[in-house]
Amino acid sequence: MPVERLVEVDQLIDGVPVRVEVSGQALLVVMIDNRIHVMSDVCPHNGASLSEGLVRDGCVTCPSHLWRFDLDTGERRGRPDVRLTLYGASTTADGWVEVDVPAAQPVVSLREALLAHARSQTDV
Ligand code: FES
Repeated sequence: MPVERLVEVDQLIDGVPVRVEVSGQALLVVMIDNRIHVMSDVCPHNGASLSEGLVRDGCVTCPSHLWRFDLDTGERRGRPDVRLTLYGASTTADGWVEVDVPAAQPVVSLREALLAHARSQTDV
């Protein structure tokens, strides 16, 4: 996995998410009380950019349909089976946030996943 520099720590404002695109992936970076969280910026429901949502009480809320995701676990509140990919971030000596970024995965919306599941049930 390549290590990618995402953003300078000085550019982050506490509680304000930013979107960073690296290696073909969109990531959300947010700092809360000097702790940096990095996760997928793509909502698993329908692909909205989570960095356009509100961060509060340890969660980011999707701006489209208000699903809430825990910043520590990536889990959707009330639906832990739905989760965001989290990335372990570190800070370099010269003040950058960096993460190991795996190869890009194809994005599958919940609708596409449900349709694929429904088709598999009828292909008997
Ligand atoms: S696209 Fe995020 S909750 Fe619907």
